[in-house]
Amino acid sequence: FRIVVLVSGTGTNLQALLDAAADPAYGATVVAVGSDRDGTLGQQRAEAAGVPVFVVRVPDFDSRQEWDRALADQVAAHEPDLVVLAGFMKLVGEEYLRRYGGRTVNTHPALSPSFPGMHGPADALTYGVKVTGCTLFFVDGGVDTGPIVDQRTVPVADDDTVETLHERIKTAERGMLVDAVGRMARGGWRVEGRRVLLGTGPG
Ligand code: GRF
Repeated sequence: FRIVVLVSGTGTNLQALLDAAADPAYGATVVAVGSDRDGTLGQQRAEAAGVPVFVVRVPDFDSRQEWDRALADQVAAHEPDLVVLAGFMKLVGEEYLRRYGGRTVNTHPALSPSFPGMHGPADALTYGVKVTGCTLFFVDGGVDTGPIVDQRTVPVADDDTVETLHERIKTAERGMLVDAVGRMARGGWRVEGRRVLLGTGPG
């Protein structure tokens, strides 16, 4: 079961997947790591693990559509069964979604459908919720709106800052990601309307 991971940042979610996939019993291999920018810690983590890296930068293309096609082409070259967006800070476009929407998951540091967008932990803190969490979902054309694969809850402490809350969420997020991706690899999945059913045959 071949996984391509796309990252833009520090790549702690990527690292969790690399560590899990080092055990053959996990049932999946990270075959490539892609990014929309150069020099991220995520790419260094991939290189350290001996995983090939590719970069597809928006400013290198005349239009967002051409970037989107190039991204889909790079992903396609690695023939993934699943693409994991792990802190990938670009919205994929129509062509990417047409080709890989059915097999691309993203993580969001909030409990969907609450607090979509770039500031999930800050928005949860400002709102005053006592419980937040993280969500793994299939990407669609919206912002953090696709069918939900898995969620974990995280308590909000009175003395939390955005940073301490996000760190607690990220710990839960890594566990969720490793667990759910492993289940997808080993047992497949089916999407019925908005409901994602794991362990139901080949993905
Ligand atoms: C995660 O919380 C992800 O949900 C959010 O950015 C963070 C990425 O962390 N979009 P990392 O790069 O995996 O360390």
